[in-house]
Amino acid sequence: MSDNIQSFEQESRVFDPPAAFSSSAHIKSMDEYRALWQRSIDDPDGFWGEVAQTFDWMKPYDKVCEFEAPDARWFVGGQTNMAHNCLDRIIAEGKGDKTALLWESEPVDDAGKPEVRAITYGELKSMTCRIANGLKALGVGKGDVVTIYMPMIPEAVAAMLACTRIGAPHSVVFAGFSAGAIADRMNDAGSKVILTSDGSYRRGKVLPLKTTVDEALANVPHAEKCVVFKRCGNDVPMTDGRDYWDSELFNAQPDDCAAEPMDSEDLLFVLYTSGSTGKPKGIMHTTAGYMTYAYLTTKYTFDIHEDDVYWCTADVGWITGHSYIAYGPLLNGSTCLMYEGAPNYPEWNRFWDIVERHKVTVFYTAPTAIRAFMKAGVEHVEKHDLSSLRMLGTVGEPINPEAWMWYHEHIGGGKCPIADTWWQTETGGHMVTPVPGATPTKPGTATLPFFGIDAAIVDRQGNEVPPNEGGLLVIRKPWPSMLRGVLGDRDRFVKTYWSDVPGMYFSGDGARRDDDGYFWIMGRMDDVLNVSGHRLGTAEIESALVAHEAVAESAVVGMPHDVKGEAVCAFVTLKTGFTADDELTKVLKKQVQTEIGAIARPDEIRYAEALPKTRSGKIMRRLLRQVAAGKEVTGDVTTLEDFNVVQKLQGGGDG
Ligand code: WT7
Repeated sequence: MSDNIQSFEQESRVFDPPAAFSSSAHIKSMDEYRALWQRSIDDPDGFWGEVAQTFDWMKPYDKVCEFEAPDARWFVGGQTNMAHNCLDRIIAEGKGDKTALLWESEPVDDAGKPEVRAITYGELKSMTCRIANGLKALGVGKGDVVTIYMPMIPEAVAAMLACTRIGAPHSVVFAGFSAGAIADRMNDAGSKVILTSDGSYRRGKVLPLKTTVDEALANVPHAEKCVVFKRCGNDVPMTDGRDYWDSELFNAQPDDCAAEPMDSEDLLFVLYTSGSTGKPKGIMHTTAGYMTYAYLTTKYTFDIHEDDVYWCTADVGWITGHSYIAYGPLLNGSTCLMYEGAPNYPEWNRFWDIVERHKVTVFYTAPTAIRAFMKAGVEHVEKHDLSSLRMLGTVGEPINPEAWMWYHEHIGGGKCPIADTWWQTETGGHMVTPVPGATPTKPGTATLPFFGIDAAIVDRQGNEVPPNEGGLLVIRKPWPSMLRGVLGDRDRFVKTYWSDVPGMYFSGDGARRDDDGYFWIMGRMDDVLNVSGHRLGTAEIESALVAHEAVAESAVVGMPHDVKGEAVCAFVTLKTGFTADDELTKVLKKQVQTEIGAIARPDEIRYAEALPKTRSGKIMRRLLRQVAAGKEVTGDVTTLEDFNVVQKLQGGGDG
């Protein structure tokens, strides 16, 4: 990891929030933002204590925060319940008939019409309670981890809420992951129950989710129960005594279920994310702190108001779907749109058609999607009236200024503030982001810290570096939704986040601040790729490759890709007796897809006689990244064992 990151980015365009937006926003000016931010830093207990008054507590807390790095406890001694606060509390405010989830199917009928379901808070509560009662009937209780492997249907959100209602932490596994990935996660979490569906619609095809789950469960010795929501009607084998249809288990259940009083620090969910080494980490989030932060970031970052139709295009399998589909919007009593399928089905105008038909006001997506739309052509956008939109957001990776400008002009019609939100699975919610009614934005920067966030750019000793100098992006004070650990692996938690810089949370990202104090994220400092806004650990992909009998060694790096941001490039050396050819390349790509999932599939496999290593035997990925990008290898090669290796790689053909 190099500490000397240089930044050559220059961006001088500044966009002030439109006056009409600011005048009705929750936070109306920079003065207001600064005053509130300062207060949140000077008196965090006062600040967060006030926010927490929004919620219903089954037992009041004694203390707002206790922190001794790396361990934080928030709202100590209190008891509350997430599902209660998302549903019952909102219904008690008189919003039982308000639409909570506005769902739209991927398939469309002959007239081009999708199926639309508007599920009210009242209905979502009943659905949640029936699932909760059904889970209880299966023997699921407080503390039992329930795995959820489901498509983007309202039942997925209801399943998450049902878990939190009875105090069973959920572990949502993105439905694009493979059987191996499900099994690893269930085994790691000791999860005995999985909720899935028969299939999932994707670009007009049916992905057989239940079949994948069957394969996974064959490798989960302690697996006990599997509940299958019927969605696509595809044929699925059911195992007697283990598998249940949703209808037989849930439909007859009472539609009320008492919410379990949960201690503030009880585990709310685990969500697995990739790291640079070893298997994915089960990031732990707890009840009250996460709830408070998901609520407040949704309110202020998206400037949520009563009549908004809010749409986040993420999948519930990622943290974005947890905080900004399932929890944040419901905690704010808002209407959240949920779309089942692909952005280009049946055509590339699908998203804009949805925005127009449902009069979406707040739209949150990823830079990789924006780049894909740019590529598909602006004509798909221009067919639609997007005037309902009042603000936009992005997340997942740095947004390149061209994509930012395109988003601003073509989607936002030049009038919508854009919130480029920097955060992570580990942080639970937005950390660095504009507050749309206040913060002037510049294309490519996530701007300034959210309330309560003491973000800084430091060197390895923890000293702040001067403006425009690159360094490590750290958080110096606790915040309510900070991760509480890595499930079952205390050492990894301490080593990954709390060891690089003494006493501070290190995000793993490099960044700089400009003269206005704005944060410019420069990317990961570890061996983690960011493909289409999703984190992939190089080690996982490498071990999937080495698992093939022909492969001796492999090194995976990212290479620039104009839509995905980064694509996977794998360097592979073969065992003697094996030869590189197109067939092997196909097999190896497929192997990664089977072991991890399609998002990890390498775009390129390059064969080499040897990989460049330091004298101590460490693979020099910096060099491989340059080779993969087609750049000349520059920089310090004095520790390289054999420079011939690099010359051969550069000259060597493309497998
Ligand atoms: C990593 C976290 C947070 C939900 C989506 C990804 C990168 C995320 C931004 C942004 C620049 C960003 C960082 C971060 N990242 N948002 N707005 N600007 N980089 O969650 O899988 O936990 O990945 O994504 O590198 O560390 P994740």
